[in-house]
Amino acid sequence: MYIPKKQSWHIEPPWGLLNDPNGLIWYKGNYYAFFQWNRLAKDHSSKAWGFATSPDLVHWQFRGSALLPDQPYDAQGVYSGSALEIGGQLNLYYTGNVKQEGRRISRQCLAVSEDGRHFRKLGPVLTTPAGYTEHFRDPKVVPDPQGGYAMVLGAQRQNGLGAVELAISQDGVHWVPGGAIGLSEEYQMIECPDLFALDGAPVLLYCPQHRDNDADASLDSFSVGRVLDQWPDAANPLDLDTGWQRLDAGFDFYAPQTFRVPDGRRILFGWMSRLEGEEETAFGAEEPRIHCLTMPRELFRRGQHLCQRPVREQRELPGTPVAGETTGNGRLYRPARRAFRFTADNLAPNRDLELTLHGGEWSFRYDAAARTVTVQRRRWTDSGTDTRQAELPALTSLELWCDQSSAELFLNDGELVFSARFCPTAPQPSLLEAGLTPETPAQLTLLPEDLYRFIPKEEEKS
Ligand code: FRU
Repeated sequence: MYIPKKQSWHIEPPWGLLNDPNGLIWYKGNYYAFFQWNRLAKDHSSKAWGFATSPDLVHWQFRGSALLPDQPYDAQGVYSGSALEIGGQLNLYYTGNVKQEGRRISRQCLAVSEDGRHFRKLGPVLTTPAGYTEHFRDPKVVPDPQGGYAMVLGAQRQNGLGAVELAISQDGVHWVPGGAIGLSEEYQMIECPDLFALDGAPVLLYCPQHRDNDADASLDSFSVGRVLDQWPDAANPLDLDTGWQRLDAGFDFYAPQTFRVPDGRRILFGWMSRLEGEEETAFGAEEPRIHCLTMPRELFRRGQHLCQRPVREQRELPGTPVAGETTGNGRLYRPARRAFRFTADNLAPNRDLELTLHGGEWSFRYDAAARTVTVQRRRWTDSGTDTRQAELPALTSLELWCDQSSAELFLNDGELVFSARFCPTAPQPSLLEAGLTPETPAQLTLLPEDLYRFIPKEEEKS
C-alpha cells in the first residue's frame, strides 16, 4: 500500500518543487514565508517565488506565486532573496538569473508591494562587481547599524573561491558594492548568507559549497552559523572556513533564513531537504510535489553557541494527549495520525534512550557511555539506512516534532537539532520509546488538523 508523503502542517506547495525560504517577514499584521518554487516540474529547471501567510506562525495558508520569471533580467529564475519593510512598503530583493547558451548573468533585483498580495517589479538594482563570477546571488537586506541598509550576498570570486560580499544603500533602492566581508579558501561558492544581531552580538549564517567549477556543478553544501565579535566590514574580511558550527546535525536542512518578529524574537525557517539525484527523484515519484520548509524555530544563543527551538506558538498549541502502553523498558504509543509531538523533560542522567518511529522509518539513540547521538532513517532507494551522529555529553530534554514524512528533533532545549524527511511505509503510526524512567515527564500529543491550507483552485494565481 502506498502511503502519501503530503505533510499536514509544514509549508509546501500544492505541486512542483520547493527549495529555499525567501523573504521572511512580518508585514502589516501577517507573517510571510516566501520560498523558491518550481511550479512547472519537480526539478530545479524554473524558479519563481511562491508564498504562504499566517496570522500567528501556526496556521498557514498557501497563496500561490508572487514573482514569476517573466522579465529579460530574470527569465531563467527568480532566485533566492529577502524582504524588508521600508516606509510601509514591502521590498523584496531577489536574484534575477539569466542563463543563455551556457552563459549566466546574475542581477540583484527589487520588487515592491503595498498590500502583500500584489507585487511590482522595479528591475535590477545591482550588477556583479569586478572580481566576481556570475555565481553572485541571494541578497539578504538588513538595516545597517551605521545607518542606511546593508545587503549581504553569496558569491564566487574570479579565482573560483567563495566569498560573502557586501553592498550598501542609503534608501534601499540605490546600491553600491561594499567589498567582501568574508573569504573562503576551501569552498568554491557561498550561498544564502544571513546577517543580524542576536542578543547584542552579530551573527552570520551561510552555506559553504564545494563546486566543480569546470562542470559548473555543485558537489556538496551545508549550512553553518557563527557569532561574531563585531559587525563585519570589508576592511577586515572573515575567514569563512573556520569558527562556524553546523546549524543542524540531521539529513535535510539547507539555506536557512531568519527574520525578527515584533516581540524581538529571531525566527528561522530552513529548506527541509537536501535530497539530490536519484534520492530526490524517488522521494517525489508518486507525489505532485516535493520538499517543504522546516517548522518555524526560534534562534537564540547560549554564549557563542547558536540554538534553535520550536516557536512558542507551536509549543502552546492545544493537542490531544495519547497514552502509551508499557512495553519492555519503555512505552509504545499508537497515535491516530503522524502529526504529533513527543516531549520528555528532566531526563535522568547517564541513561541510554531510544526512539523508533513507525516501525523503523526513523530512529534516535542516545548512548550515555559513548556520549553520542545517532539518528537513522530507512533509505527508499535501496534497503540500507542513512546515519548521522553527533557528540552530546549529557541528554537532559528532547522534543520530537513529527509530520507525515518528517521528524525534527530538538535536544537539550535546542542545543542540537536533527531534521529529516523519511518515507512513510507503516500503515499504523507508532512511536516506541525505550529507556525513559517511569517518573520522567513524557507526553505524546496529537497536533490539530488543518494547520496548513492550500487555497481553493479558483482563487489561485498562476
Ligand atoms: C540554494 C540556491 C540559491 C539560489 C537558489 C535557486 O539552494 O542554489 O543559491 O538562489 O537555490 O533556486
